[in-house]
Amino acid sequence: MMPKNLIITTVALLSLVCVAAEQAAKANTDKWDAPPEAAAKANPEAQNPGAPAAGRKLFMHACVNCHGEDGSGGSNTGAADLRRGETQTQSDGALFWKITNGNTANGMPSFASLPEASRWDIVIFLRTLKDSSGDNSAGPGEPKKEAPPNSDKQKQ
Ligand code: HEC
Repeated sequence: MMPKNLIITTVALLSLVCVAAEQAAKANTDKWDAPPEAAAKANPEAQNPGAPAAGRKLFMHACVNCHGEDGSGGSNTGAADLRRGETQTQSDGALFWKITNGNTANGMPSFASLPEASRWDIVIFLRTLKDSSGDNSAGPGEPKKEAPPNSDKQKQ
């Protein structure tokens, strides 16, 4: 009988579990996700017929340098391709939250200084970008990258 060995083994196993749990928790907080209550917010500009145009104007002014006119993201800025499924499947509230707060550590500025309605208008404009990714058209002079697996045409 070796109770001491057993205790040592148990302690070693427990600390392994702790390390794993800690890493899992850290990976979670590193992910840039809107909190659920922010993601659940409805877009108050949804019924405003002028919203896409207003959002477009703001986008061309404040976002185009990094994300490109078509939202594809500049290869030199590391800015996200806003047309891809990973972005488009996020709720209006989630995108609003990201535009508001930014992720400055990764190069996405905060646009909290823009009026709230303007940020919602931009979200509505972002929805129009996805249309430009389905037709396989790359930006001028840009070789078409392989389509991401979830970019297949969805049933509307
Ligand atoms: C200085 C460059 C820069 C500017 C200007 C900029 N962005 Fe970004 N944006 C980024 C980068 C870099 C990321 C990727 C951040 C990350 O993934 O952590 C990003 C990410 C995003 C995302 C998240 C995409 C996703 O899939 O989660 C959204 C939405 C977004 N930007 C919208 C905008 C809008 C709208 C504007 C203008 C109001 C804007 N950005 C201006 C650099 C920029």
